[in-house]
Amino acid sequence: MIYAKIKATGSYLPEKVVANTDLARTIDTSDEWIVQRTGIQRRHVVAENENVVTMAVAAASKALEQASLTPHDLDMIIVATCTASQVFPATACSVQAQLGAQNCAAFDVQAACSGFIYGLSIAQQFIAGGQYKRILLIGSEAMSRVLDWQDRSSCILFGDGAGAVILEAANEPGVMSTHLSADGSYKDVLFLDNADVVKMQGNAVFKLAVKWLSQVAKQALEHNHMQPSDIDWVVPHQANIRIINSTVKSLGISEDKVIVTVDEHANTSAASIPLALDVGIRDGRIKPGQNLLFEAFGGGLTWGSAMVRL
Ligand code: UT7
Repeated sequence: MIYAKIKATGSYLPEKVVANTDLARTIDTSDEWIVQRTGIQRRHVVAENENVVTMAVAAASKALEQASLTPHDLDMIIVATCTASQVFPATACSVQAQLGAQNCAAFDVQAACSGFIYGLSIAQQFIAGGQYKRILLIGSEAMSRVLDWQDRSSCILFGDGAGAVILEAANEPGVMSTHLSADGSYKDVLFLDNADVVKMQGNAVFKLAVKWLSQVAKQALEHNHMQPSDIDWVVPHQANIRIINSTVKSLGISEDKVIVTVDEHANTSAASIPLALDVGIRDGRIKPGQNLLFEAFGGGLTWGSAMVRL
């Protein structure tokens, strides 16, 4: 059996940091409210000369360096994003050009905040099927470009950044499972309107997120015949600390087994899981051989989980 194994990770965060107290100067909110309701303290925001392509290239370059690979070694580039600067060409094609990668396939995946897990599922199947050996998967988002900065119920939640993983064919696990789901009848609770601005019914999203994340994470455990105690780290989509904690509580997993970056990064949509993964690996908490549970939830509505042995 061929598995897709995470060989390396990389990430990029824009230099500019916006703290809750900065937001409280322009809208009717407070650091205390945001921290209590979301766990977010600050977020990174792109500069004028940055976009999803430049961030993706920066994250990918770090992953390639960590893997001791060159762009020519890649068979495929997948970018998960819902904030692409252009509908086409795909962000992945622009990334390919800037990296100088040749002779590889390149396309984008759009499943909002669940995009990384959807992309992981696609990459895993290309590798398990034997067609490709090395795939670069990136989540990159410039959420700050699609926010109404006067809407206090949404603009406080999001941030910008990119995370990348390089998946390589291996004869040991690997990505052990992915479970994807969607329910388009809830498309109006979280969407980009005609002016490309985020509209959200936060409370409805919150309740559905907790319910469906618990379900899809349990599916991952059952599929792999694993107990909550077999999980070394949960690397969740970073939307709200209350969603993260409610989900792991329902699974019977302790909060100290969760990689949390929502305080520093806010919700970076499809970039949040690979960003958190890179943080956990580079600071030494996540180690080779450990079992990781990824789970994400976003506009669509879409959601999914992945069980990964590093
Ligand atoms: O990847 C998925 C992306 N989306 C999400 O993850 C969103 C999930 N939802 C949430 O994280 C939460 O629903 C929010 C953080 C958005 C809101 O928290 P909540 O506990 O659900 O609050 P609420 O929407 O029920 O609002 C409570 C109150 C309201 O005031 P009233 O009507 O009770 O007087 C809001 O107007 O809080 C008010 N409020 C704020 N107050 C200060 C809403 N936003 C703010 C704010 N600062 N930024």
